[in-house]
This record gives sequence, structure tokens and C-alpha cells, in this order.
Amino acid sequence: MAFNPLDEQGIAVEDQFRNWSELNVTPYDKHTVDPYTRTRVILMNGIEVESILFSHQFARHTDNLELKRALATSRRVDAQQQKAVNGLNPGEQMPLETTLGYEQVAVDLTAWLARHEPDPMLRQALDFALLEDFDHLYRYANLYDLMYGGHAEEITQHLTEITPGRPTIVEHRHPHDEVRPHFETHAVDPLSRMHVMTIVAAEQQTMNFYMNHGTDWIEPIARGLYAEIALIEEQHVTHYESLLDPLDSWIANWVFHEYNEVYLYWSMLQQESDRRIKAIWDLHCNMEIGQLQVACDFMRRLEGREPAEMLPPALPDTPVTFEPNKDYVRQVLADQIDLRADGIDYVGVDDLPSSHRYFEYQATVNEGGAPSEQVVEQTRDKRGTEHRDETEGDHPIRDLRPQHAS
Ligand SMILES: [Fe+2]
Ligand SMILES: [Fe+2]
Ligand SMILES: [Fe+2]
Ligand SMILES: [Fe+2]
Repeated sequence: MAFNPLDEQGIAVEDQFRNWSELNVTPYDKHTVDPYTRTRVILMNGIEVESILFSHQFARHTDNLELKRALATSRRVDAQQQKAVNGLNPGEQMPLETTLGYEQVAVDLTAWLARHEPDPMLRQALDFALLEDFDHLYRYANLYDLMYGGHAEEITQHLTEITPGRPTIVEHRHPHDEVRPHFETHAVDPLSRMHVMTIVAAEQQTMNFYMNHGTDWIEPIARGLYAEIALIEEQHVTHYESLLDPLDSWIANWVFHEYNEVYLYWSMLQQESDRRIKAIWDLHCNMEIGQLQVACDFMRRLEGREPAEMLPPALPDTPVTFEPNKDYVRQVLADQIDLRADGIDYVGVDDLPSSHRYFEYQATVNEGGAPSEQVVEQTRDKRGTEHRDETEGDHPIRDLRPQHAS
């Protein structure tokens, strides 16, 4: 049945405040949690963080007191929601284990969005970064093995393969090659807009998480790897945010944020296997509907626009879903491993002239070696073999099949 959030009341924003014990939720059990429950928690935390940061930026760009107060109210509720969601992560889950969850989000969210993305330009952007986050999972899995003898597949439960993607060492690009052309707000499929907003929020949260957790370790290899991959997440945020049409007003962006939150909580609700956590997704979905009504009201009053004219008549039929994407990832690996960026174009590495800024930037940052290579070499030296979880057979790229310690 078609579900149009604009026709629903949801919970009034003023009725959404919760007390401390409601916000101090009982975490999931890291040993028994469904890996995709963990990824849903990670994603929705990132979505809330983006909503909060967006609202702060909006508030700094308006002098309308009534609007500032409405933003402050919805933002306070989003900040409470963020606590209720992020609090589901248990304290006994080490930041490196949570990191493996972050990269599982990046792989299976990006691949799912790409598979369902109607616009070829946006799908290409998703495929491009997919191979990079796929490689990060492998690098962190090796760090987990090297430092703790850990088995990353106990976190991912074999739902996502662990093996090289586009090697992290070659992902470092000059900033000018990270900026893409944007979609047109009047022509874009509403689904595409939500796909881009969702991946921007997810990558931004990953960037922030690595910025903050990179110094949790004593070992230089761990600190170095977090620094290196955090810089790729900075590239990914630049890459994805450039796809958004900057023509949209602040109020329109507010409406889109609330609408996307409704869509995502509704999506998470459809798949959640944990009944207690499902109730949180359900509650938050109804809260977002109430927040959406407030944003829509400001659009009508301040812009004289009817939100229904820029939103779809109903939510998409298909919820954003966490599920294995192994065949898809392998196909993109086989087809696109050698792609690089040249300005706004994607080109094969062999088509870049040797004078290209890509090679100059590479020489600068990789001078003296890259932690993403060293972590695998050290794991090989210590354990006799590097850490992989290839459930579907040999790696599709011959050059990326395992090397053994000499
Ligand atoms: Fe929210
Ligand atoms: Fe990543
Ligand atoms: Fe990323
Ligand atoms: Fe919200």
C-alpha cells in the first residue's frame, strides 16, 4: 500500500522529548547481534548526525527567530534520537570492531544503492567509491588479525566478502579530481536524491568516526592506517556531496532531510529482526513524520511553495535494504578496478598521462610507504598468510590473489 508521509500526522515535535533513562538504552549483545542490525544502527546514527549538523549550519544562515526556534526544537529531538540509536552499540565492542561494521555498511549500503539507482551518472559514482570502501574492510580486517588475532568474519558473519578492492594506496587523488558534476534538482528522480543524501551522511559519519578514533591506539601501524583511510573518507564526502544540486534552498534541504529520515526509519523497520530495536525504528519513524510536518509548514509560509510539488506522491515501494551484494561487488571489481578520476571524468589508469596531477599527488603522500600496504605485509609476516574471507571463490582479479610470506 502506498505510504505518503505528507498525509500522516506523526508525533508532534513538542511531544518528542525523552528522559535520560529512555535515552540510556540497553545495547545489543555483540556476540549474537545480526550483523545487519549492527549496520542499521551505524547508518541511522550517521543519518541523525547529518541532520543535526545540517540544522546547525542552517541556523547560522538565517536571521528569522521563529525559524531558529523551530530548528532548535527539531534539532534537540534529533540529538536525542542520535543518543538512543548510537547507545545501542555495546561498550565491549572495540572501536576496531565497530570500524569493521562501518565498512560493512559502506560496502552493502553502497552496492544496494548502486543496484537500485536509476541515474547512470550517480550509479557510476557509487560503483567508483564502492571498490574503495570494499578495500578498507580488508585492510582493517588485517589490522584486527595483526593486533588481536581477531577474525573479522565473526563480525561480518560471511555476509560480506573480505578481500582486496581497488587498493587503498592507489585511491589517493588530488582534490580537484574528487569534484563531480551534480544532478539537476528539477529533473532528478526523488529516489536518486535520497540515495545521494543517504550516502553523504554515511560517508561523513565514517570520516568523523576515523578522525576521532584514529588515536585510540598505541601501535603506529593502527594510527597510520586510520589516518590514511580517514583521508579517503574525506575524499568520499567531497565526491558524494558534489553530486547534490546546490540550487536547493535551505528550507527545501530541511524538508528533504526530514523526508529522507522518514524513508530510512521506515526502511529499517521493514527488515529489523530484533523486536526491541524494531520498536525504536518505529517510534523514530513517527517522530520524523512530525518533524517533516513542521518543515513543510515553514516551506508553505516562507517560500509560498507546496512541499507536495517537490516530493513524490508516496514513499518508494522498496525499502533501503541491508543484504549480501557479493556477485554485484565481484562484477564491479572485474569491470572497474582500474578506473581513476580525471577532473569530472572516470578514466582507465593507462589513459592518464604520466604528467597527470594524480601521479604527483600519489608520489607525495605515498613517499616512504603506505600503512594500508604495511598492515597486510606485517600480517603476512606474523601469521604466515594475510587475512581474507573469500566465500565465492578466487579473487576475480588475478593480480589481487593472495601472496604468501616468503
Ligand atoms: Fe532524526
Ligand atoms: Fe571506507
Ligand atoms: Fe567511504
Ligand atoms: Fe529529523
